[in-house]
Amino acid sequence: MNSMKSLMRGVSRVTPSLTRAVHSGMRTSSSAASRAKTQERPMTSEEVFAREDRYGAHNYHPLPVALERGEGVHMWDVEGRRYFDFLSAYSAVNQGHCHPKIIAALTAQASRLTLTSRAFYNDILGAYEQYITGLFGYDKVLPMNTGVEGGETACKLARKWAYSVKGIPKYEAKIVFAAGNFWGRTMAAISSSTDPSSYDGFGPFMPGFELVPYNDIPALEVQITH
Ligand SMILES: Cc1ncc(COP(=O)(O)O)c(C=O)c1O
Repeated sequence: MNSMKSLMRGVSRVTPSLTRAVHSGMRTSSSAASRAKTQERPMTSEEVFAREDRYGAHNYHPLPVALERGEGVHMWDVEGRRYFDFLSAYSAVNQGHCHPKIIAALTAQASRLTLTSRAFYNDILGAYEQYITGLFGYDKVLPMNTGVEGGETACKLARKWAYSVKGIPKYEAKIVFAAGNFWGRTMAAISSSTDPSSYDGFGPFMPGFELVPYNDIPALEVQITH
C-alpha cells in the first residue's frame, strides 16, 4: 500500500485536456505501424490495461496509466495526455526520455556490435568499468541488469566477507534486514520480506536472514552482538 502511494506520487498528469487529435500528429511512424498491424484503431487505455492483465503475470500492480511515448521529463499516454515522469524508472531513466545523444550512442553501438556475452572480452566494457569506478571511487564494479541482482550480490558479498575476513564459521553467517523492506522478488528478496503479498506461498525461505524494526538501533545491536 505504501509503495502504491509513493508510486502515485511518482507520476502526475500535466495537461489532461490535450486531445488525441493534437497528439496523434506527434506519434512516431513505427508505433503507428505496429499498432496498425494488430488492429484498425489506436488502443484505449482500458484496452491496454485489459491486454496486460490477460496475458502478463500479475507480479506488479501498475498505476492505471498506459504510456506510449516520452521526451525529456514528459510522457504521453495512448489518449495523448501528458505527464511529468517523476518516477523515472526508479532512477534508471534519470536522464529523461529519448535524449538525442543517448539514442545516438545506443544506435551507433547496437549497429556496430549489438551484444556480447561475458564469455568474451569486448572493447567497451573495460572503458566503462574504468570510468565508473573512477567516478564513484570504488576498486571494482559488477554491472547488473536489475535492481534485485544488486541486492542478491550484496548478500553474497556479505556472506563471503563474513567467512573469509571476519572469521564467521562457514555457512553460519547472519544478514540483518529492516522490517518493511522491499528490494525485489527473487527468493532471497522475499525471504527478507515482512509483506505476505511478497512471500506467502513461496517458502521454504533463505536461512540466515534476521529482521529488526526499521530505525530500531537497540534491536540492531542485539542482532549484531549475538
Ligand atoms: C524499491 C525497489 N527496490 C528494488 C526493486 C527491484 O528492482 P528490479 O525490478 O530492477 O530488480 C524494485 C522493483 O520494483 C523496487 O521497487
